[in-house]
This record gives sequence, C-alpha cells and structure tokens, in this order.
Amino acid sequence: MRKISVIGVGYVGLVTAACFSDLGNTVTAVDVDEKRIAGLKRGEMPIYEPGLEELVKRNVEAGRLTFTTSYKKALKDCEFVFICVGTPSGVDGEADLKYVESAAKSIAKNMQAALIVINKSTVPVGTGDWVAEIISAAQPKPIDFWVVSCPEFLREGAAISDFMSPHRTVLGSLHREAADKVAQLHLPLRAPIVITDLRTAEMIKYASNAFLATKISFINEIADICESLGADVKEVAAGMGFDPRIGKHFLEAGLGYGGSCFPKDVKALAFMAQEMGHEPRILNSVMTVNGLRRQHDRR
Ligand SMILES: NC(=O)c1ccc[n+]([C@@H]2O[C@H](COP(=O)([O-])OP(=O)(O)OC[C@H]3O[C@@H](n4cnc5c(N)ncnc54)[C@H](O)[C@@H]3O)[C@@H](O)[C@H]2O)c1
Repeated sequence: MRKISVIGVGYVGLVTAACFSDLGNTVTAVDVDEKRIAGLKRGEMPIYEPGLEELVKRNVEAGRLTFTTSYKKALKDCEFVFICVGTPSGVDGEADLKYVESAAKSIAKNMQAALIVINKSTVPVGTGDWVAEIISAAQPKPIDFWVVSCPEFLREGAAISDFMSPHRTVLGSLHREAADKVAQLHLPLRAPIVITDLRTAEMIKYASNAFLATKISFINEIADICESLGADVKEVAAGMGFDPRIGKHFLEAGLGYGGSCFPKDVKALAFMAQEMGHEPRILNSVMTVNGLRRQHDRR
C-alpha cells in the first residue's frame, strides 16, 4: 500500500483522502485552514456529503488517515501528493491559480524525497507545466519530481460513489512511468484509465464540463421554443433521451446550470480560447442562454 498526501481538504481533497485511505493506503491530508483541520481531528466534517463522516471515522480509527497543517509532516516518506485546492474565477473569468501556486511552492520547500505531484484541481491548459517550473524554482536543493494531471469528475452530493465508481480515470503526464504509477493507485476503482499528455488531460476536464453545460443550455433554448409553439419540453427531452447518441442526462429544462463548477469552468475555457485568439462562439452562446434563463425564471 502507498503513502499519499492530499493538499486541501475541501470537497475534492477530503473525499480523495478518505477514499484512498479506505482502499488501504496511508493518507495524510494537509490544509492551511487551521480551524478546518482542528475540526476534522475532532471528527467534524467541513462539508456535508452522504457517507463521508463514517468513511473518515473508519479510516482515522484504523490509523490510515490523518490531518495536519504541516506540509513537512504530510510529505514525509510520501510517494504521491494530490493538489486539491480551489481554483475560483478571477476578475475576467480566468481561473485564479493563487492557491495552486502557493501549494506548489509549499511542496517544493517541504518535499524530502522523489515525489509524484498529481493535480486534481481544475486548472487551465498548461498549468501542469507551470507547476513543474514553480516547484523546480522553489526547491532549496534539486529533488526529482514528476507532474501528473488527474482531473476530478465527482458531483457534490454523490461524491463518494462518484469517486469510488468513476466512469473513467483520466491521467496526463509527460512521464509515462509516473502516469503508470498513478494508474496503479486507481486500479481498484476498476474504471477505464485514459493515459495522455498533461495538456490533453487538463483539456478533457474543461471540455467535459463545457459539453454538459451546453446540453443544459440547449434544452433550455428548446424549452423557450416549445413554450411559443405549444409543445411540452419534458416530453421532448424524454423522447430525445432514449437515443443513446443523445442520452437523457443533463437534458432537463429548468433554471440553467449553476453550482461551484460549471459557471467558472465554462468561463475559464472561453477565457483560454480568447487568449489564444479564438472566438468561443458556442461557449459564449451557452453562457448567454444560461443568463437569460435565470432572468426568464424570475419573471
Ligand atoms: N466541488 C466539486 O464538485 C468539484 C468537482 C470536480 C472538480 N473540482 C475542482 O477541484 C478543485 C477543488 O475544489 P473544492 O470544491 O474541493 O474546493 P474547496 O474550496 O471546497 O476546498 C479547497 C481547500 O483547499 C484549501 N487550501 C487553499 N490553499 C491551500 C494551500 N496552499 N495549501 C493547503 N490547502 C489549501 C482550502 O483551505 C480549502 O479547504 C477546484 O479546482 C474545483 O474546480 C471540484
């Protein structure tokens, strides 16, 4: 069994730490939020997620899961470190990477032996290369490390079952051996594993969320047209959903997409496209339709 550190004990980090420890690994989870760590040491969950409290309790009691604010303790004898810090929207819609930067610097300063650094935060394409540069520049003395992207696809409210039974695991790295080692960690999840390069893995996460948001905006636009033409959008969606090429998920007309990921991820992808001189026509329309839908529902 492996020794793993997880950085950031929010939704993704706490679930990752609890699930990997339940699979038999030894996991130390580190956060800069002292209150959060003190609460976890007392068995208090910072978030509500079905089954999480029991999972954490079981693995803490078994000695497989510990919490700390010390990177030094967390990285001692550690082979794998997962970055799971937040990447909120910046002022122009770009992903704000200040927490990722700070986590990368702290890893660099506290790592004591060769390490695989796995990024689970949703980050713009190219961030893996940037994290590698930050770590190299901030290390007091050179120690080998390899960066792997492993985007997370869990949904809040179903986080543990999504983590334990994913539809796929995506891994991206320029170092095949490092990606293979991370793949080994995920084998007990028995899901297909896609191994690709860093940038492609980072893009798979954004493209997946943007596609689901597009489906939601699409059915909402159809709902508006249905309303004008006297058709029932619920039945339209049900009728469409039987076609496996379309699928029934994310085809429910309503308020539009929201939550902690879709709005920021669609914006961040559109920002990345614009930065590279592409006009993200579909993404812009998806965001416009989503905004109008909310106004429509307030009428
Ligand atoms: N929440 C979801 O449903 C979900 C799903 C898939 C992917 N993601 C992505 O995963 C990432 C994390 O999301 P989340 O919802 O878990 O965030 P969160 O805000 O719930 O948790 C982030 C945690 O990181 C900690 N942190 C910040 N800087 C730190 C540092 N330098 N060192 C140690 N800890 C630090 C914070 O104190 C906090 O506890 C984001 O990029 C998000 O887009 C989230």
